[in-house]
Amino acid sequence: MAAVSFEGVSKRYGEVVALDALDLEVREGEFVSLLGPSGSGKSTTLNLLAGLMDADAGVIRIGGRDVTALPPERRDIAMVFQNYALYPHLTVFENMAFPLEARKPKPAASAIRAKVEQVAGVLGIGMLLARYPKEISGGQQQRVALGRAMVRDPTVFLLDEPLSNLDARLRIRMRRDLKALHHAIGSTIVYVTHDQAEAMTLSSRIAVFDHGRLQQYATPAEIYDRPANVFVANFVGDRETNFLDGSLSAEGEELAFASALGRVPLGRPRGALDARGPLRLGVRPEAVGVLPDPDAPLRVTLAELSGADLFLTIRAADGLEVVARADPRATRVAEGDGVRLAFDPSRLHLFDAGTGVAIAHGT
Ligand SMILES: Nc1ncnc2c1ncn2[C@@H]1O[C@H](COP(=O)(O)OP(=O)(O)OP(=O)(O)O)[C@@H](O)[C@H]1O
Ligand SMILES: [Mg+2]
Repeated sequence: MAAVSFEGVSKRYGEVVALDALDLEVREGEFVSLLGPSGSGKSTTLNLLAGLMDADAGVIRIGGRDVTALPPERRDIAMVFQNYALYPHLTVFENMAFPLEARKPKPAASAIRAKVEQVAGVLGIGMLLARYPKEISGGQQQRVALGRAMVRDPTVFLLDEPLSNLDARLRIRMRRDLKALHHAIGSTIVYVTHDQAEAMTLSSRIAVFDHGRLQQYATPAEIYDRPANVFVANFVGDRETNFLDGSLSAEGEELAFASALGRVPLGRPRGALDARGPLRLGVRPEAVGVLPDPDAPLRVTLAELSGADLFLTIRAADGLEVVARADPRATRVAEGDGVRLAFDPSRLHLFDAGTGVAIAHGT
């Protein structure tokens, strides 16, 4: 039985279609991220699941039960928001105990203490229980907010950008902690983020949204290696994918892609490649090889060292640019140098230039 399912769920605000006929299933114990740019419908999806707003159409189920018309408190979910607002006048213990104190009938004080201590142990905040929120760090406050949700043992956890208030390093650490926590408790988690790296590292599956529409729902590897369309290819990845417009040309058994950058050999990509119309080739920076060639018409216009990687921007005479990710210790090209490009055929993506839908992937 799916832990959560959306069947044809839509939501409008006046003219704005915030969510358009969403079909989505989350399996028991899965960690699913809702990923997309600002305004794509992620929070709307989560709020509909939590019961904080009503759907205009469709059915939402939690644990097989139709909850579409149920109020939030009867849905057996716990939600952690971006602004996790702990009660400042309550200690960590009292903050975490709060949902249990509010329960009717109220559990025994000893049962509440045991539950809070158990959850605090899992979260590694057992030594902070007597402190007030202002006496602990941002990351610790975030854990307390999670703990406050966990003491209720909900069927599903809903987290809306819970790490976005933390600095970059702490976010990466909390990401690991969240993953470990998910392994430890095994609950179903639906997690909203606009950070593709967060979604990639945490999720069993990622649902990518744009303009209120689900673009792709698949594992992180599938999303990365076989993006369903141009939007997904561009949004997922820490650098943008390079896109080239052109058309297919056959070279004996092999196929090639003719574009403003010249001929790109495609090898023999899988998938139906009888597309005759205009095509768009997608290639991630790490699949672009750069070879020094003083006579080539391509020039390196920018070399950015980011530590582990060297990002090279290469420009053709007509202004077309391609970004390559290179190993700084193995690359001997500098700004101004002439270069040739070699695309890894196993990592190319072909899209219909009109619709943006993927036609074939090299891998
Ligand atoms: N209460 C509201 N009234 C009117 N429009 C709304 C309301 N809430 C959201 N919207 C609109 O619905 C669309 C989806 O919003 P939603 O909050 O789901 O986006 P999001 O993906 O969570 O974005 P963000 O990353 O910025 O949080 C947006 O166009 C937004 O402007
Ligand atoms: Mg949001």
